[in-house]
Parts: sequence; C-alpha cells; structure tokens
Amino acid sequence: MLRSRFHPLQTRPSVAVPGDPGPGDRRVSRWTRIRARPSVRVVTTELRPLVAADAAEHCRGEDELTVRWLTGGHGDLARTVAHFERLARNAAAGTGKRGFGVWRSGRLCGYIDFDPDVEVLEPGEVNLAYAVHPWARGQGVAVEAVRLVCEVLQTERVGRRAAIRVEPENTASVRVAEKAGFTHARTLVSPTEVRSDGSPVTHRVYLLDLWPASDVPAAQPGQRP
Ligand SMILES: CC(C)(COP(=O)(O)OP(=O)(O)OC[C@H]1O[C@@H](n2cnc3c(N)ncnc32)[C@H](O)[C@@H]1OP(=O)(O)O)[C@@H](O)C(=O)NCCC(=O)NCCS
Repeated sequence: MLRSRFHPLQTRPSVAVPGDPGPGDRRVSRWTRIRARPSVRVVTTELRPLVAADAAEHCRGEDELTVRWLTGGHGDLARTVAHFERLARNAAAGTGKRGFGVWRSGRLCGYIDFDPDVEVLEPGEVNLAYAVHPWARGQGVAVEAVRLVCEVLQTERVGRRAAIRVEPENTASVRVAEKAGFTHARTLVSPTEVRSDGSPVTHRVYLLDLWPASDVPAAQPGQRP
C-alpha cells in the first residue's frame, strides 16, 4: 500500500507565527507529522485549532456516515462557528472539550476532539471523537490524527488513558481504534439512545494508556482525577 512505503521523518509540536503558511495571521499550536517518500512527494498530516474561516469547509466534509456515527445531524455555519469558538475558549482555559481540524498536505480533511469530562467514562479516561471528510477516507488519516492527538494529551499532560467509544457496527472506527493501538476494555449500554428496533445502543470502549503506570501525571486543577 502507498502509505507503507512512506517513511516517518518527524513528529513535532510547533507554533505558527504571523507570516506562517497556516490559516490566517495568528499564533496557533500545531502538531505535525511529516511522512516522506524520498525525492517523490511529502505528505503532511497536521492538527490545528479551527477558526471561523474553516467552518464552511468543515460543514462540506460532513456526510451521512458522519451524521450517523458522530454528530446526529448536519451542522450549519452559525452553530459550527459557535462550536469552534467554544473549543477555543476551552483551549485557552485548559479545560473541557478541545478540538482540532486535521489538515492533509494543507487541505482540511477531518476533525478530532478530546474531552476529559465525559461522564460515562471513568476518571482519567479522555474521550476522543473524530471524522474524516469522505474524499480523504481510506488513506490512514484517522489513525494518524488519533496518534497526533494522543501526543497532544501527553504534551499537555491531560488524562491517564485515551478512550474511543464506538458502536460495534461502525467497523471503520473499530479498525481505527485497533490500528492506533487501543484495546477493547468494556461495553456500555446507553441509558438514553435506542436503535430503530427499540434495542439500546451499545458502545465498545477502547482504551490506550498514555503513560506507563510509574509515570502517571497528577490531576490538574479543574480536572477529574
Ligand atoms: C471512521 C473514519 C473516521 C475512518 O477514517 P479513515 O481516515 O478512512 O480511516 P483510516 O484510513 O485511518 O483507516 C483505518 C483502518 O480502517 C479501515 N477502514 C476504513 N474504512 C473502513 C470500512 N468502511 N470498513 C472497514 N474498515 C474500514 C481501513 O482499511 C484501515 O485499516 P487497514 O489499514 O488495516 O486497511 C471515517 O470512516 C469517518 O469519518 N466515519 C464517519 C464518522 C465516524 O464514524 N466517526 C467515529 C465515531 S466513533
């Protein structure tokens, strides 16, 4: 497969500065993984905070699978901008759900967020949620984005384990969790969500340790332990 011929060169947290080719003149934290096939092409996968200017492209990247497995409904521009602004406030405060756009060689191709405050999870488990735009699927974007966001959790010392909750029928997302190194820990039965046949929705919880047991970070103020 194409990506198996790519050689991982580096993963780095960096800060874009005015004049940087990032979206707009603003300071943003950026996490980048660069993969290269020497002398042929370079493919970059980056996580960057989302801003209002990204909202239209973000909405265009939603399809029925995104709605079915993640959002429950199509987003409109105003609500999407409000969501991005909420994520930015949370990032500034260092609490709650924080989200990123996923850029593949400079083009917005997906979304990923983390949330340390999901009630159905155990303390210390940080929920991940993601979607990839239809045109970019099947190229390893989701697995790469999950790996990058786990590096953000480690850099910012958030949580003890990353968690992916997925309905068993969502085979693509199950595969993303497995390929990113997560293991199936338990199954949750939703107290509120039901399928069309009236049976309750179930979620498998896949977990990945962010730290060796000997190096678990202390809880930060405002965080669940
Ligand atoms: C799930 C989703 C994010 C996967 O994104 P992606 O970038 O295509 O995933 P990747 O390319 O990283 O693929 C990871 C693995 O899943 C496999 N995969 C992808 N789509 C698949 C499908 N429809 N059925 C089975 N496996 C699938 C890939 O083949 C790959 O495994 P492999 O390398 O062993 O072949 C994408 O399908 C999506 O956006 N779905 C709608 C939103 C969603 O389900 N979000 C998750 C909610 S828990």
